[in-house]
Amino acid sequence: MGDSLTISGPRLMARLQTLGEIGALPGGGVCRLALSEEDRQGRERVLAWMHDLGLEVSSDAMGNLFGLRPGLEAGPPVMTGSHIDTVRTGGLYDGNLGVLAGLEAIETLNDAGITTRRPLCVAVFTNEEGARFAPDMMGSLVYVGGMPLEEALATRGIDGERVGDCLDAIDARGSDPVGAPDVHAFVELHVEQGPVLEETGVTLGAVEKVQGISWTEFTFTGTSNHAGTTPMRLRHDAGYAAMATATFVRELVTRIGGDQVGTVGSLEIAPNLVNVVANHARFTVDLRNTVNQQLAMAEQELADFVARLAGQEGIQVERRTLARFDPVPFDPAMVDLVEKQAHALGHSVMRMPSGAGHDAQMLARVCPTSMIFVPSVGGISHNIHEFTSPEDLEAGANVLLQVLLALSE
Ligand code: GLV
Ligand code: MN
Ligand code: MN
Repeated sequence: MGDSLTISGPRLMARLQTLGEIGALPGGGVCRLALSEEDRQGRERVLAWMHDLGLEVSSDAMGNLFGLRPGLEAGPPVMTGSHIDTVRTGGLYDGNLGVLAGLEAIETLNDAGITTRRPLCVAVFTNEEGARFAPDMMGSLVYVGGMPLEEALATRGIDGERVGDCLDAIDARGSDPVGAPDVHAFVELHVEQGPVLEETGVTLGAVEKVQGISWTEFTFTGTSNHAGTTPMRLRHDAGYAAMATATFVRELVTRIGGDQVGTVGSLEIAPNLVNVVANHARFTVDLRNTVNQQLAMAEQELADFVARLAGQEGIQVERRTLARFDPVPFDPAMVDLVEKQAHALGHSVMRMPSGAGHDAQMLARVCPTSMIFVPSVGGISHNIHEFTSPEDLEAGANVLLQVLLALSE
């Protein structure tokens, strides 16, 4: 059943463009931070589409949204989906593609009059990005029982706002319980967000695993003083220490090599003036590796460096873990299925790890899971110029449809 069904590329593109208008940035791209007014509008749009498609809509206490299409039989659904929150400089596809390709698959089945044996469900998970509220993948993490709801709701964002208050402010707190989902299988379509598929000339990725993620926030406290009169030997310079740590992170990950990456993406110093030694610095370190042992080694070296530096510079250090997830392998049979369906549709496909974090890595805790990747032009993502060709989006969505059909029979 459904072997020759194909999704509508133009309809998928139209929805991507329409959603992309919510929080649109002047030069292109989107700012739709989790639980912002733009997120509220995006949710409203997606919920309207879900209703139009005849889905049974629900939401849980974490604000995750679900559109269920009943099957011939009751029982746990085959689930797909992703997120619609973005980083502050996001593209049109990150997350949005997974949600809207799920809706496109549903509309294709509606048009063909096909009812699957198992129910199908399209999920929109709250705060995947973690750009405003850490950790990333927060909604799916709570959904699978990996973080207590109360802890998530009490989390404060970069603006000091609390998740629970922001959920209420946009009226997104639902009534379904979280923590013990019953899902038959999960598959997520996503843009690769890296250069591998494009550089290899392959259309699709069958994602085998997601690399481990470690986010730490450091706060350094020194002494502000006059930039002209304070001898170097008397300085307790929090700004210098932060920047020395950033340099160390680059040296460290280069030395470790392999898949190790490291980023200092957020840095603030105070009083942030030309002629004052900074007494305060707060910055984040994002470390990732597909091999957990190497990731742990990088974390340890960073901690040792910071302790040594603090002693030498005479500054105080506070550290806070914002996110820590081990690498996640996906279900081999699910990876095989993605590969098989891609081949059956005549597309080139390769097995690959994911460099970015995804809701699928949380769902993998409770059900067989895998992902489908489509190429990102220039390997660019978390950037307003993120782009994937309509042909590749269509290819990915058609494979998603066939994987959903196979899983739901
Ligand atoms: C979140 O999606 C991340 O990988 O940073
Ligand atoms: Mn994403
Ligand atoms: Mn992202």
